Amino acid sequence: MPKPLLPPAPFRLHHNVLRGRAGAPVLDQAGREAASAEIRSWPDYAPTPLVPLPGLASRIGVAAIGYKDEAGRFGLGSFKALGGAYAVARHLLRRLAGSGIAATSADLASGRFADRTRAITVTCATDGNHGRSVAWGAQRFGCRAVIYIHETVSEGRAAAIARFGAEVRRVPGTYDDAVRRAAEDAAREDWTVVSDTSYPGYTEIPCDVMDGYRVMAAEALGQWRAAFPGAPPTHVFAPGGVGGVAAAIAAELAHAFGEGGMPRLVVVEPDRADCLRRSAEAGRPVAVEGELDTVMAGLACGEVSLLAFDELLWRAHAFMAVPDEVVAPCMRLLADGVGGDPKLVAGESAVAGLAALLLARSDADAASSLRLGESSRVLLFGTEGATDPELYARLVGRSAESVRAG
Ligand SMILES: Cc1ncc(COP(=O)(O)O)c(C=O)c1O
Repeated sequence: MPKPLLPPAPFRLHHNVLRGRAGAPVLDQAGREAASAEIRSWPDYAPTPLVPLPGLASRIGVAAIGYKDEAGRFGLGSFKALGGAYAVARHLLRRLAGSGIAATSADLASGRFADRTRAITVTCATDGNHGRSVAWGAQRFGCRAVIYIHETVSEGRAAAIARFGAEVRRVPGTYDDAVRRAAEDAAREDWTVVSDTSYPGYTEIPCDVMDGYRVMAAEALGQWRAAFPGAPPTHVFAPGGVGGVAAAIAAELAHAFGEGGMPRLVVVEPDRADCLRRSAEAGRPVAVEGELDTVMAGLACGEVSLLAFDELLWRAHAFMAVPDEVVAPCMRLLADGVGGDPKLVAGESAVAGLAALLLARSDADAASSLRLGESSRVLLFGTEGATDPELYARLVGRSAESVRAG
């Protein structure tokens, strides 16, 4: 066994014994195709890179690692740019269609129907990244946005949302309290909730959001085929908040490899907010109570998205919860580049998968039960860059700019 890159840290691993027996596939082909055509048509669309990390792979004793680096997505710093903004566009187009107007997102972006769309308000709760995407989508496609943040969302993240012209409202409590508050205010004011989490009676928009995320997963698999021809990933580590992005990745893996041929999908959460792991263990949604106080702000969710959970119960192989103490060391490993690997700016939530990989690879039982070994090829989703630049600099010891400058 190679020497671990991280000191041992406690983690929890749950193998999904209900895989293929409980839950259900949720995301469909039509939604995938619609999101792909729409998002790829945006003038500033460009795939984010999949970065091979051969130095890290050889250091930990696996055959290959590819890191999908979402730091540059649409200049917003995270994959979330794909979901919320796409859902805003879809919503406005549906509203126009309801009035008999067949418009395109290019019409919206040009302001052609601004007199109508300006009267529409979209809203959501966010820990930062989703709200930034909804605000950006609202600005781009011509409607108003009111974004709810909870107590501990940093001022930097709030300012990044306000920069896109949204009204930002801070409310007491956790992310889940902000979700409830956005829903209540929307019902009273006749606004539309553009949420990344689904609940009973509210599924259409979260499906649009997840369909948008599938673009990231599809890009990654295409890039993997080019970088590692004939050697598909054997393992995929995806971060889990409410489960939306992991569900999108699961659906895309099933699309690419078939249900039976999928790489092992491991969903990774903070151990203080592991609602997906606990729910998978129970076979039904279970909420995590308390402060959900984790440095992985994007993953600080106490309640699963019902649809995403169904997709994951059906398709994910394992759920893993990792402690906060491994986050900064993992961010530093990527910032430094192991064994001559490129230096990468990865935010707190982006390194959950790397943390899980390192912890599992150096634990004999976990490695063996996940069949993680010398011949494994691992795809990691690095879902954000330095979306909170001050926190990034504090955790890594230098700024994102200086990491990028090498
Ligand atoms: C950077 C980052 N990664 C992962 C996630 C988790 O996504 P989901 O809530 O869809 O599981 C989030 C959610 O905000 C995020 O911001």
